[in-house]
Amino acid sequence: MNATLSLIDEGVLEKIETLISEMTLEEKLGMLHGDNVYDTKGVARLGIPPFHFSDGPMGVRGEFDRETCSYVGDTGDFATAFPCITAVAATWNPEMAYENGKALGREVRGRGKDVSLSPGINIHRTPLCGRNFEYMSEDPYLISRMCVPEIQGIQENDVAACIKHFAVNNQETRRFDVNVEVDERALHELYLPGFQAAVQEGGCLAVMGAYNQFRGEYCCHNQYLMQTLLRETWGFDGIVISDWGAVHDTKKAVDAGVHFDMNVSNRYDEYYYANPLKELVEAGEISEETVNGMVRQILKMMFQLKMMEPEHRSPGAYNTHENHISARKVARESIVLLKNEENLLPLAKDFHGSIAVIGENANRMQAFSGGSSEVRALYEIPPLLGIQMHLGGNFHVQYAKGYSSNPEDTDQRETLAEEACKLAASSDVVIYVGGLNHDYDMEGQDRPDMKLPYGQDALIGRLLDANPNTVIVNMSGSPVEMRSWIDRAKAVVQYWYAGTEGGMALAEVLFGDVNPSGKLPTTFPKALEDTPVSRFGEFPGGDTVTYKEGIYVGYRYYDSFDVEPEFCFGHGLSYTEFAYTDLQLHTAQGQEGTPEVRATFTLTNTGAVSGAEAAQLYVSDTACSVARPAKELKGFEKVFLHPGESKEVSILLPKNAFCYYSTEDMDWKLEPGQFRILVGSSSRDIRLEGSVEL
Ligand code: BGC
Repeated sequence: MNATLSLIDEGVLEKIETLISEMTLEEKLGMLHGDNVYDTKGVARLGIPPFHFSDGPMGVRGEFDRETCSYVGDTGDFATAFPCITAVAATWNPEMAYENGKALGREVRGRGKDVSLSPGINIHRTPLCGRNFEYMSEDPYLISRMCVPEIQGIQENDVAACIKHFAVNNQETRRFDVNVEVDERALHELYLPGFQAAVQEGGCLAVMGAYNQFRGEYCCHNQYLMQTLLRETWGFDGIVISDWGAVHDTKKAVDAGVHFDMNVSNRYDEYYYANPLKELVEAGEISEETVNGMVRQILKMMFQLKMMEPEHRSPGAYNTHENHISARKVARESIVLLKNEENLLPLAKDFHGSIAVIGENANRMQAFSGGSSEVRALYEIPPLLGIQMHLGGNFHVQYAKGYSSNPEDTDQRETLAEEACKLAASSDVVIYVGGLNHDYDMEGQDRPDMKLPYGQDALIGRLLDANPNTVIVNMSGSPVEMRSWIDRAKAVVQYWYAGTEGGMALAEVLFGDVNPSGKLPTTFPKALEDTPVSRFGEFPGGDTVTYKEGIYVGYRYYDSFDVEPEFCFGHGLSYTEFAYTDLQLHTAQGQEGTPEVRATFTLTNTGAVSGAEAAQLYVSDTACSVARPAKELKGFEKVFLHPGESKEVSILLPKNAFCYYSTEDMDWKLEPGQFRILVGSSSRDIRLEGSVEL
């Protein structure tokens, strides 16, 4: 499929013009706004189908009733739950993002949808954002490299991906109207690159306008975002969809180039693009030709997605074994081994002792919660079930809940903890699965702090006292504070909302059938006070939130200001070891005479088991007329190696890898000088260093 609407051939363009000439104004308007929570109106007499949208990025959402705007409740909409998009980013493997997107796209089409409202790629600006689990990372380069194949995978199924939420939608507090102020440099260096890559490299056919305001204007009315950047600078020629209820003024949204006005009310005629737009056209304030232009673009997209010739369109498929396998593969690669002392992990495959599984998250389904990304999963294997299935029936796994998320159980807290500690003390090994759930990682609300809820810190401390061989599995979509117990825990695993097959993937990692290879896509700071928004302010702000930390988000802050995190960006251990040797740097003239650098180095698996390593390359500008972060990720490659095997990794650094965004020039600028090239296993575990003069 061409990932652009401008390559549509002449014959189709003629058909589109004929269709437009045959449509009444009402019919045209019906195509521009919701006529159900997730559908527009088609024009049946002309063979134009409605558009069907569906939420992602964790799977295809359930069906909604037109009148009640709530779930229909049939079983036909059960679907595969995929790992959350943060987990996809944690694989650090673009092939996994492609596989995830491809399987998700199959489900989208299999469920008869045309647009997947995914992936979400807003920056993890603070650990507290409730929707971090729907976003990839704190780093724009990692986001760019991972969202492009995700989008391509989705769109291979004759459906469009809709990248969201454009732009600077980094908090849930006052999400419908908060005004975001961010300087031009941070905007370009952090908040835009993912969207630009999605459009220019991923060929993303749709963009969702965010709820919030940017510099005093709602995103869906915002000329700078929607016209200057998206259309004029990046050349986007696809469709813009409002977030559900993000349009507040018909004319401003039309002028900004929003094609679809979507909402969650069942008063469909009152949508801004329904009667209000009709009145503006009739009053001559908006021309019918403008409406034609919007319809034309939508029809182009319909032809592009083969909606007008369904016999040639991919049928898709949902709940297939193939899709479940993809979900499992991604889940496996997303799991991050944060700490592993005394080789507590992996647990022996022929383990004959007693195992206790403790923690509510071990025994809780997560997929159907969290807000719009919730999925009515056909099935979901939670950790306890995954461990039991993995070990088989000869093995008796004992379970204790340990803590409860139910506020009514508060007076049970001590009893639950005591039961769990007793079980822990009498077991050889304990697997604790706690963390957050979608009462915290959720749409519409930010977290109040970074602490583990439900008294888990105290519980984990007591479990470690009762049994030092307690593996801590933290399940969350964003960083949590681990201060009170981390130094005593021998093994800690980061496990995300991992979908349908998550529990199996976790068991495979814990018992060593899969060697963990995930890396953190976001820094886990020691405490909230350490985060840049705590230091500089401001979060969540009031009417306005000013991103006072500027470019210093995530490791750009921690590494520049010497703040030691609990687990740094890019961190993730393996059951084997990797050696980095022989860094070579070659400077050359790239296209149009711009300088580029080719970095090569050798990666060797020096341990006893096969495994994969996401080798990372950071660029550091040693002297510059503007302040620059201590280092910035500019390349990575995930390499699978058998014991003793080596591979040469080669990473090309284009000119842009060395540039900063100059607010004077309003453009990217390369300031000549020396640059350090840092290669390593994480942002703080640098194994090789070199420098180039540009
Ligand atoms: C969310 C979007 C979502 C839309 C439709 C909004 O509330 O912000 O991410 O796609 O609802 O469900």
